[in-house]
Amino acid sequence: MDEIIIHNLNFNPMLLWHEKLINAVTIVNGIISEIKKPQKARLPWYRFWIYDQETLIHSANVSLLTILIAREMGYQGKNLEEVALGALLHDLGKLEVPKSILNKPGKLTEDEYEVIKKHPQYGMELIKPFCLSKMIQQPIIQHHERWNGKGYPHGLKKEEIHPNAQIVAVADVLAALIEDRSYRQGMGVMGAMEIIAAGKAKEFSPIIVDQLLKVFTPVTH
Ligand SMILES: [Fe+2]
Repeated sequence: MDEIIIHNLNFNPMLLWHEKLINAVTIVNGIISEIKKPQKARLPWYRFWIYDQETLIHSANVSLLTILIAREMGYQGKNLEEVALGALLHDLGKLEVPKSILNKPGKLTEDEYEVIKKHPQYGMELIKPFCLSKMIQQPIIQHHERWNGKGYPHGLKKEEIHPNAQIVAVADVLAALIEDRSYRQGMGVMGAMEIIAAGKAKEFSPIIVDQLLKVFTPVTH
């Protein structure tokens, strides 16, 4: 799993050696090995192992980027682990979306898109039996909400969106841009960052975008 996470992200090799990134990989891997333990196997995230590799890898990448941003914002200890776990579980509801829609190579029909858009609520249903904290739940239900109110499922805007979900929203889009997919190659981090920066105070929280820019400030030492 460690190798999948690292190799799938199209990071500049200079940044790969960045201490922050290495530490974040350690935390994500710690959480992954924790929820892979047999007694936790009922956690539905585990089903990603057999259902959809692409979503599983994406989830690990989003968790990793989430940790980088959250740490820049001062998260630590339990808060950091909770936002990382929320990020890891953010797309859990995709387990309820038929594979024919989830992995469709062409353009989705309007009806198919409506099914995809239900995955935040599906995710909440799946985690119900596990009594997870609000800090973990918010990224699952709110990661497609947008700062300008044009997201889904509830069209929340600005501070109505939980800070953990604001972080995961940015990490989710950044990961999607830089990951390789079966039908296209991922972008370089800096190109993807420009797209995120252009969405500052539009799709994304200006505070989170600024923190992200700090994370990827080139290392000078
Ligand atoms: Fe999603």
